[in-house]
Amino acid sequence: MEKPDNCILVIFGASGDLSKRKLIPSLFDLYRQGFLPEKFSVLGVGRSKLTSTKFRDRMAESVEQFTESEPVKKEQLQAFIKSFHFISVDPSNSEDFIKLKSKLETLDARYKIGGNYIYYLAVPPSTYQPIIQNLGSQGLQKENSSTASWKRLIIEKPFGYDLESALKLMKAMKKVFSEPQIYRIDHYLGKETVQNILVFRFANGIFEPLWNRNYIHHVEITAAESIGVEGRGEYYDGAGALRDMVQNHLMQIMGVVAMESPSSFDSTAVRNETVKVFQSLREIPHDKVSKFAVRGQYTTSVIKKEIIPGYREEKNVAEGSRTETFAAIKVFIDNWRWGGVPFYIRAGKRLPTRVTEVAIHFKPTPHFLFAQDSKEADGLNQLIIRIQPNEGLALKFGLKVPGQGFKVQNVSMDFHYSGLANTRVASAYERLLLDCMLGDSTLYARGDAVEACWKFVDPILQEWQNNPDLKVYGYPAGTWGPREANELFLEHGVEWRYPCKNLVDDGVVCEL
Ligand code: BG6
Repeated sequence: MEKPDNCILVIFGASGDLSKRKLIPSLFDLYRQGFLPEKFSVLGVGRSKLTSTKFRDRMAESVEQFTESEPVKKEQLQAFIKSFHFISVDPSNSEDFIKLKSKLETLDARYKIGGNYIYYLAVPPSTYQPIIQNLGSQGLQKENSSTASWKRLIIEKPFGYDLESALKLMKAMKKVFSEPQIYRIDHYLGKETVQNILVFRFANGIFEPLWNRNYIHHVEITAAESIGVEGRGEYYDGAGALRDMVQNHLMQIMGVVAMESPSSFDSTAVRNETVKVFQSLREIPHDKVSKFAVRGQYTTSVIKKEIIPGYREEKNVAEGSRTETFAAIKVFIDNWRWGGVPFYIRAGKRLPTRVTEVAIHFKPTPHFLFAQDSKEADGLNQLIIRIQPNEGLALKFGLKVPGQGFKVQNVSMDFHYSGLANTRVASAYERLLLDCMLGDSTLYARGDAVEACWKFVDPILQEWQNNPDLKVYGYPAGTWGPREANELFLEHGVEWRYPCKNLVDDGVVCEL
């Protein structure tokens, strides 16, 4: 294994939720596998007046609380956090960045780091610009070619609110950091199962001849969550499902499913191919949005005798809010591989279960011989790529039911990650943090890709905001979204796949 260069990870928003739940536990997992650099330090940055000792205590607590894979050993934890420090900084106060610079110099000398820093912005997007500007005014982004020291910036989605604001943010970032220094994290690309789509497609010859408009009828990408907005009403009410899940996570998955084979597996080659997919998306005209996009919002319902409040009853959600908690869109990729193949993408909260998957539906045979004996004549051949949970793959096809006649039954050939012996599946943040330390941006979203995705969703966002005729359909919490989402399929004569029919999440794992 390649070891990353020594570095300091500077986390803005270090005492926030993301840092506690994801970043620090993932770093700990990297540490105990021996993947962190020889010399490494974390500098937590936040508005609060924490001492470094208190910060270390808090981070130790979050490791204990949120690390899942193995029990945490006390001595290991102490060794891990001993090079953690904290500094109080107000993002908009330029004086504070002078202090930050001097703190970094002290830590750099103390741990013999050699000038390599990662700035991780785990803060609300409204503070991205002042932080970046202030880092720039202290020259904290400058790399040194004679010592080969580097500086990298990781930012969390949302990368903007719409096309215009995304371009503004990009411009502000590019004034200070160059594109190769910017790592836009989309944690779905860090998921093992999403990366496996690349391996599945490009390491196996047998599917390639089928992977196009000649054999594929349509593709579905679903991200269902059974949870609601979980106290994040303030953020979510200004975002909605299209911005929160579709514009980034699900479109990135679509990029991986639809891309051409890259010339090599390096960051530029791979990302050159995904961006071409986004640049080939058929634009949705403003007056046709209702034919290509449907939105919904969950309403109060009773699930297992418990009252589940509707979205509008959630904390920090505006009374009468029209924010969508469910979004479904139909997308066409106008290129030679995919011409005419619809991609149906949906994401929603308070659906019956948690499941994220890609379903490739192959075209039926030109003439189905066994129709009288089987109701399952159409859509027999499907490839299900289950991203989470119950991670795996299933290929579905028809087989003869033993006995008289020729009755056809749908069967499944499947692989489950859980069947692999002793293979630990790294968390998305673990993978992505390590990649950034190694300078590998393959699994990070590039600026041109983000821009193309915003460009595609922008007409939908604008119409949803400005056109009162475009309804927000209600759906009772615990159901598969509004019935109207099926209207997207009208011309294609199919319907959504329901991975778990009528199941209200109760820990039952959805079959592949
Ligand atoms: C986040 C969204 O990016 O992804 C959340 O903001 C969503 O609303 C989450 O719940 C889903 O991530 P995962 O990894 O749990 O599927």
